[in-house]
Amino acid sequence: MYDNNPTLDPHKPLDESQQGSVYFKNADAPGDPEKGTRHFYIESYGCAMNFSDSEIVASILGEVGFQPTRDMEIADLILINTCSIREKAEQNVRQRLRIFDQVKKRRKGTLVGVLGCMAERLKAKLMEEEKLVDMVLGPDAYRDLPKLVAEASQGEKGINVLLSREETYADISPMRLDSNGVVAFISIMRGCDNMCSFCVVPFTRGRERSRNAFSIIAEATDLYQRGYREVTLLGQNVDSYKWENPDSKEVVNFANLLEMVALVHPDLRIRFSTSHPKDITDEVLYTIKNHENICNYIHLPVQSGNSRVLKLMNRTYDREWYLERVKAIYRIIPDCAISADIITGFCSETEEEHQDTLSIMKESDYTMSYMFYYSERPGTLAARKYPDDIPLAVKKRRLQDVVDLQMEMSHANNKRDIGKTFKVLIEGNSKKSDQQFKGRSGQNKMVIFDKKENLKVGDYVQVKINSVTRATLLGEIV
Ligand code: SAH
Ligand code: SF4
Ligand code: F3S
Repeated sequence: MYDNNPTLDPHKPLDESQQGSVYFKNADAPGDPEKGTRHFYIESYGCAMNFSDSEIVASILGEVGFQPTRDMEIADLILINTCSIREKAEQNVRQRLRIFDQVKKRRKGTLVGVLGCMAERLKAKLMEEEKLVDMVLGPDAYRDLPKLVAEASQGEKGINVLLSREETYADISPMRLDSNGVVAFISIMRGCDNMCSFCVVPFTRGRERSRNAFSIIAEATDLYQRGYREVTLLGQNVDSYKWENPDSKEVVNFANLLEMVALVHPDLRIRFSTSHPKDITDEVLYTIKNHENICNYIHLPVQSGNSRVLKLMNRTYDREWYLERVKAIYRIIPDCAISADIITGFCSETEEEHQDTLSIMKESDYTMSYMFYYSERPGTLAARKYPDDIPLAVKKRRLQDVVDLQMEMSHANNKRDIGKTFKVLIEGNSKKSDQQFKGRSGQNKMVIFDKKENLKVGDYVQVKINSVTRATLLGEIV
């Protein structure tokens, strides 16, 4: 899978190199040693929502005296936060479970828990299939984790996969894991009410619900005060964010929320993901335009460029609608970058329809894309209604067409940045040299540049671009 941004991006499934990040480079809440010295180890797979959930889980465990560790060999509790989005994602998880089985054999008493979307999808079946798993918890059941751990310590296996209509973990302050202390995720809603026919998320994460806006602002303010300079607001469909203040009855929509977070501090940068083409409004676009600290970058998954296929996918927009939204973005925010998710080889997709996907990519001028071939998921509308009839080789060839085109487009798009100057938030040392910093532009492009005295991670700098690759911009501080 091609991905031109090597850092953890808020958008959905990470590519293989990013999968399975083990947290705790500098977990910022080491737990209370007074309460005991039990350790937990957690791996996260899937989208940013899962990574964000792992930080909630860590916080819940911290409360009962668990400390995070990066070494599974010393862990009393090994957790894996799982993804079901494609078959491959689930296979990865099963492979990791084999590794944990071995640790468990070496170290008697180690408990293994499966969290997240695969736990929710497979429920008790997961325990039957994976004999060494002690606990199975769905995304809305994490408050129950301490209880299930206590029971499992007594030899009693436990499961809680109840989905909730209310749970947003609004009151839990996430333990920031694997953090550079500068960028953080804030979950603003959970679940999804769309029924895209290919997608398992509505089944694994339940109904859509929006989190209390004040708790979001409080979290953003706290992060800013602790030195963070960028937050990404997370939801499966952020444009349908809607929260009613129980006292004033005032309704906060996504544009309102964006503005409220933008006003926390001009030096706190805002990103968000994921926008849905059917729901993104001009009001949101004008809010982005009017606030310098809301990044000019929109992830707008298209999935397919053909209206018939979009209809089968139940995306509820067609090609014309999508292109109109793209036009509105470029009209209102001329230097906005747009990226997408794309699926090739969906049920009954013809060669001409595939060509429509290539042409919509060009017309939309994506700076990057997350690209996948269709993987049938049990229980989804598509699995029940449409035969998965495109041969794997064809799906893969079409994916390669899409990847090749995106690489070409990303390179061309980056070349147009040569000579321009961007405001970059310094996120750390570049991979290749500790004499260089890396950071991202508002458009979410990775920028590499030589260090200068007195500059540190978390500072903003103006960087003039001198040369580019497909994946990065190279420049100098001006
Ligand atoms: N809520 C987001 C996406 C969540 S899933 C949205 O609506 O855009 C992330 C991406 O995974 C999707 O955008 C889609 O491109 C891809 N995806 C989801 N289900 C898939 C499947 N069954 N096969 C292949 N790709 C899939
Ligand atoms: Fe899945 Fe569609 Fe919901 Fe995105 S909007 S999570 S693709 S059902
Ligand atoms: Fe995310 Fe995977 Fe679940 S993409 S919502 S972790 S199925």
